[in-house]
Amino acid sequence: MAKITYIEHKGKSHEIEVANGLTVMEGAVQNNIPGITADCGGACACATCHVYVDEKWFDKLKKKDEAEQDMLDMAFEPNKFSRLSCQISVADELDGLAVKIPSKQA
Ligand code: FES
Repeated sequence: MAKITYIEHKGKSHEIEVANGLTVMEGAVQNNIPGITADCGGACACATCHVYVDEKWFDKLKKKDEAEQDMLDMAFEPNKFSRLSCQISVADELDGLAVKIPSKQA
């Protein structure tokens, strides 16, 4: 279980307890967090789960693979802290993780 903070583009934040084994995207969808629609259901094929990971957390995450990077290249305004939230598995070590949702997904 990890407490994850999802921050909407305009700054509204949602602190959610997400069970281990779910993805950060699933935690958002199950709790109706605005801006993460996850159109492909987590297949790394849509980028509607794009988030900006809080800087201090970015290097603690498992590295992204090539498929994720390819999809991020097509995402709206990716930056060096961009990840697809469907590719981040929740575990106890991620307790406190914060992610921001891009403006296009508002
Ligand atoms: S849900 Fe489609 S890429 Fe993450």
